[in-house]
Amino acid sequence: MTTQLEQVTEVITRLQNKPGALLPILHGIQDKLGYIPTDSVALIAAALNQSRADIHGVISFYHQFRTTPPGKHTVEVCRAEACQSMGARQLEAHAKSSLGVDYHGTTVDRSVTLEEVYCLGNCACAPSVRVNDEIVGRVTTEKFDQLIDELRSQKLEVL
Ligand code: FES
Repeated sequence: MTTQLEQVTEVITRLQNKPGALLPILHGIQDKLGYIPTDSVALIAAALNQSRADIHGVISFYHQFRTTPPGKHTVEVCRAEACQSMGARQLEAHAKSSLGVDYHGTTVDRSVTLEEVYCLGNCACAPSVRVNDEIVGRVTTEKFDQLIDELRSQKLEVL
């Protein structure tokens, strides 16, 4: 079984000679592992001949990069205009308070990571959320709670 650092090394080796390799490497590691482990920073820095501070700076600049493992499920709330006009602000406030996390946070039981997204192409059914790979429309606060309950109890068949 391949260890995490072996997988990180494979991504670095494959991409390090590309122009502007840092972002592709970071995306590649996150795609593979779901986050960028702290110990991969030194490996990336050495491969690209940059300082660890440089690598940390880029990771923290782009908030799509995670440095901790995500929860079992990812729930993204659409914050774009069509959804906002249909109550997305209230929905996101509810999502944060009911899950007890801000965006990019993971619930204490590690079941759900909450993320923001800007348009899921489902504007006609706003407000929309994406639960893992499934887009769900017309999400009320009640429907949101129901989705989360189903995720936590693993009853959501489509996911
Ligand atoms: S604005 Fe939310 S799905 Fe398009």
